Amino acid sequence: MIKGKPFVKWAGGKRQIIDKLKKCLPEDFNTYYEPFIGGGALLFELSPQKAVINDSNEELMNVYKVLCNEEKFKKMCHTLNHYETSHSEEFYYEIRNKDRNKKSFNRLADYTRAARTIYLNKACFNGLYRVNSKNEFNVPFGKKKKVNTYEGNNLITVSNYLTMNDIKILCCDFEEAVKDAKKGDFIYFDPPYDSDTSTFNSYTETGFDKDEQRRLAKVFKELDKRGCYVMLSNHNTKLINELYKDYNIHHIEAKRNINSNGKKRGKVEEVIITNYESVSEKQEVFDE
Ligand SMILES: C[S@@+](CC[C@H](N)C(=O)[O-])C[C@H]1O[C@@H](n2cnc3c(N)ncnc32)[C@H](O)[C@@H]1O
Repeated sequence: MIKGKPFVKWAGGKRQIIDKLKKCLPEDFNTYYEPFIGGGALLFELSPQKAVINDSNEELMNVYKVLCNEEKFKKMCHTLNHYETSHSEEFYYEIRNKDRNKKSFNRLADYTRAARTIYLNKACFNGLYRVNSKNEFNVPFGKKKKVNTYEGNNLITVSNYLTMNDIKILCCDFEEAVKDAKKGDFIYFDPPYDSDTSTFNSYTETGFDKDEQRRLAKVFKELDKRGCYVMLSNHNTKLINELYKDYNIHHIEAKRNINSNGKKRGKVEEVIITNYESVSEKQEVFDE
C-alpha cells in the first residue's frame, strides 16, 4: 500500500518522531481517533480503515473534507493548477487577502478555499499557519520562485485514502470529538504544546493555555476509565508530568523547526504518554 503524508507543513507536525510514536502504539485497536489532527502525520502513517479525525481549525478541516469528495477534489486540483502557474509575490498577497472581506470570503466555494489553504501553506514564509485577532491569515510571502502544491502524487494518494476508507471528519473541540469513543478504540492526542516558559502556542485565534491542558487531562482520564487506549504527546514540562503522573511517561528528544523565535530552533525534550503497555515494551520483557 502506498501511504500518503501530510499535505501541509504544520506547527508541531510529528513526522520527525513518527518512529518513536509507532513504538508506543497499542497492539490492536478498533476505531482510531485523532482530535488534534493538524497535518495528520500519524494518521497517514497508520492509514487505519476506520478513523475519526478532528481539528478546531476550520480552513484545515475544510481541506480534509474536500479531499474526501471526488468531485470537489477534481475542482480543487483545477484551481491549484491555476494558482501554481500564476504564482508570484503579487498573486500570493491577492489570494492571502481574500479573507479580508468576510462577506465575499464566505461565498467562496469550499474547494476554492481548500486550494487557497494548500497554496498559502506552500507559498508563505516557513509553512506557518498564523491568523490575527480578526482571523485573517497574516504570514508574509515565502519568496519561493515556484510552488509544488501536489508534491508528486501525494494529494491524490491522500484523497484516495480518505475516500476509500471509513473516515469521519469533524471540526469541533477535542472533548466533543471523542465523545463516542468506546472500549477498545485508540485515541492519539497531540495538543498545542505546554511550555515552562512562554513560547509560540497559538495556532488559531483561540490559544491553548494551562487550563486547557488540565481539561484535556480530565478527558484523558475519562477515556482511560471507559477502556480506551490513549496516547498523548507534549513537551516535557512540570505541568504535564504532574497531570499524567499515574500513566506511562516515555521521554524522547525531538528536533523542532517552527518557533516564534527563529534563533531558538533545536532539540527539545518531549514526552509520549500512554495508559497501556505498548507493543515494544511487551517485546522488551519478552526478549529478556
Ligand atoms: C500540535 S498540533 C497537531 C499536529 C499534528 N499531530 C501533526 O502531525 O501535524 C495541534 C492542533 O490542535 C488544534 N487545536 C487547538 N485547540 C483545539 C481544540 N480545543 N480542539 C481541537 N483542536 C484544537 C490546532 O488547530 C492544531 O492543529
